[in-house]
Amino acid sequence: MKTLFSGIQPSGIPTIGNYIGALKQFVYIQDEYDCYFCIVDQHAITVPQDKTALRNNIRSLAALYLASGLDPEKVTLFIQSEVPAHAQAGWMLTTIATIGELERMTQYKDKAKDRKDGIPAGLLTYPPLMAADILLYGTDIVPVGDDQKQHLELTRDLATRFNQRYNDILTLPEVRLPEVGGRVMSLQEPTKKMSKSDTNTKGFISLLDPPATVAKKIKSAVTDSDGIVKFDKDNKPGISNLLSIYSIISDITIAELEEKYEGKGYGDFKADLAEVMVNFITQFQEKYNYYMDSEELDHILDRGAEKAAYKANKMLKKMENAMGLGRKR
Ligand code: TYM
Repeated sequence: MKTLFSGIQPSGIPTIGNYIGALKQFVYIQDEYDCYFCIVDQHAITVPQDKTALRNNIRSLAALYLASGLDPEKVTLFIQSEVPAHAQAGWMLTTIATIGELERMTQYKDKAKDRKDGIPAGLLTYPPLMAADILLYGTDIVPVGDDQKQHLELTRDLATRFNQRYNDILTLPEVRLPEVGGRVMSLQEPTKKMSKSDTNTKGFISLLDPPATVAKKIKSAVTDSDGIVKFDKDNKPGISNLLSIYSIISDITIAELEEKYEGKGYGDFKADLAEVMVNFITQFQEKYNYYMDSEELDHILDRGAEKAAYKANKMLKKMENAMGLGRKR
């Protein structure tokens, strides 16, 4: 069975962008692969975090993974900092990455420009840690949203470099992007990615927003003035974004939706989408609350860390041997 790995940062409450770009894809493929899903808390601290909020977000993210439909009997769900091999392998890969290639990462450039009080070094060295996450498991595929494509290319470059320089032991992973919804856009500025850290909270729908707030955010989403429900990313980014969201949440194709709303205005379209989203969020939050209130969640994470560490430590040893670290045993 092939291996799949993906991760989400507990740096806030995930949005429906994270759901559509990542979580939803995971559920479809959990039967076909040996799946590792990680709560990447060591990535989250590359920008300052409040420690109480971080702890809450970690547990909450675990419940969100499960509420999305992951079966804890099938997949391995764990917290990155509970498997020290990630930081250890991350360091090794940092030593073979160059400053130039790390500085070219668009996500680094975006995040670095917001840091008025100095750029944390971890923001720059983030991608080798992400590469370690993936490479430790001999991962074949990595399902992510479009914004992680560049990090995946770097992961492959680092693996190739390691294999050529030391020993051919790392598997080159393939990226898997969703067909629709790889980049869900802000509801307020539809040419910008929807982000959980947006200061304008009307721009995103959090998976834990109260249903009434979700409906309001949909109704106040920015569209255009021509009143035609049609997918056209360049000229109608707002409506196109809403169509993608509608299509994925309801499992109706965009073409079918365009047909359904032919001759109708944005008012009807938004009212229906609000209803679809409210139903989805209500059911989702019921499952989330169940896991948050149950001790099962901690047992799942304990088992996950144990299973992940077992596999990761084997690869870590191989990497250390290949590089000549420590003593031969
Ligand atoms: P993060 O936490 O920013 O996002 C988690 C996942 O959600 C996807 N995503 C989106 N998809 C569609 N539309 C959007 N607006 C949107 N925003 C986010 C992301 O592409 C991602 O799949 N570096 C990663 C976390 C990570 C990781 C890994 C991922 C660390 N190690 C190893 C895969 C494998 C990140 O910051 O994702």
